[in-house]
Amino acid sequence: MVKSIAVIGGGTMGSGIALTAATHGLTATVVDVSAEQLEKAQLYHKKQTKKAVSKERITQQEADVTIENLHYTCSMKDASEANWVVEAATENIDVKKNIFKQMHQSFGENVILATNTSSISITDLASSIPEAADRVIGMHFFNPVPVMKLVEVINGRDTSEETTEATIRFAEAIGKTPVTANDFAGFVSNRVLMPMINEAFHAWNDGVAGPEQIDSIMKLGCAFPMGPLRLADYIGLDVCRDIMMVMYNGLAENPKYLPNQKLVDLVNAGKLGDKSGQGVYSYE
Ligand code: 3HC
Repeated sequence: MVKSIAVIGGGTMGSGIALTAATHGLTATVVDVSAEQLEKAQLYHKKQTKKAVSKERITQQEADVTIENLHYTCSMKDASEANWVVEAATENIDVKKNIFKQMHQSFGENVILATNTSSISITDLASSIPEAADRVIGMHFFNPVPVMKLVEVINGRDTSEETTEATIRFAEAIGKTPVTANDFAGFVSNRVLMPMINEAFHAWNDGVAGPEQIDSIMKLGCAFPMGPLRLADYIGLDVCRDIMMVMYNGLAENPKYLPNQKLVDLVNAGKLGDKSGQGVYSYE
């Protein structure tokens, strides 16, 4: 049984994965090269547990246990006792391959090396550590991780059956519903979601309607919790653009996956959505 995990990357997804594991009784160590990012992760954990107590979702004692379960470090070696690892670093293949090599060196030889990539090929990532490719698997979580039920589980070409079964059990143990998908760029979730978000940018760019109207129409007409443009800001416009490009490159350069120019322009202007205070909408 998994008792302690290491999460590589203390950003939105990594800190959410660590909090989810900690609330389910696991020790979770967040590893990030940036001490500032670790501080942000710790603040997020404190804020969320405090909020859960104030809403009487958990007791103060449960909140204290959750906080005690969480650890933070800039060195992967400090987390090497963990018996499960989830990589949740920047969505860049070279960065991730490098991290996978370090993970392979730092953790025990039976430890499963999962990646929270949202679109990059698991087989490609696993090629950075061919001798351990059977232990590499995709565990794609959704934002906000503590709330969203799904974990999309993706096997690489060499992922073993034992790894898949263990991943399904682990996802369930932390309160998630695992669903398997095959190793194509964008998997299922982003293959379907991102072209819809991109189409919302096309509709805005073509003058079909403004962002508020597009979002209201999709919220009220299709029962989405957020409209596609609001969701794009929430995910991060740079992340949306990058995922579209991974699909464009990974799916035979089909032009339907090219990011809309308005999306690209906002990213180039540093307007990345919620995290930068400005995206399609302003959050100041
Ligand atoms: N961390 C932890 N909990 C959070 C949270 C966060 N960041 N944000 C919201 N919550 C919790 C709140 O505390 C609240 O909990 P409660 O029920 O115990 O009070 C609950 O979620 C609902 O939050 P709010 O009342 O503040 O607000 P809403 O009802 O508007 O819900 C939302 C917010 C859950 C974000 C909702 O708008 C939603 O589901 N939006 C769509 C999110 C979505 O589609 N995510 C997937 C993105 S795609 C992805 O991640 C894949 C990647 O590869 C791109």
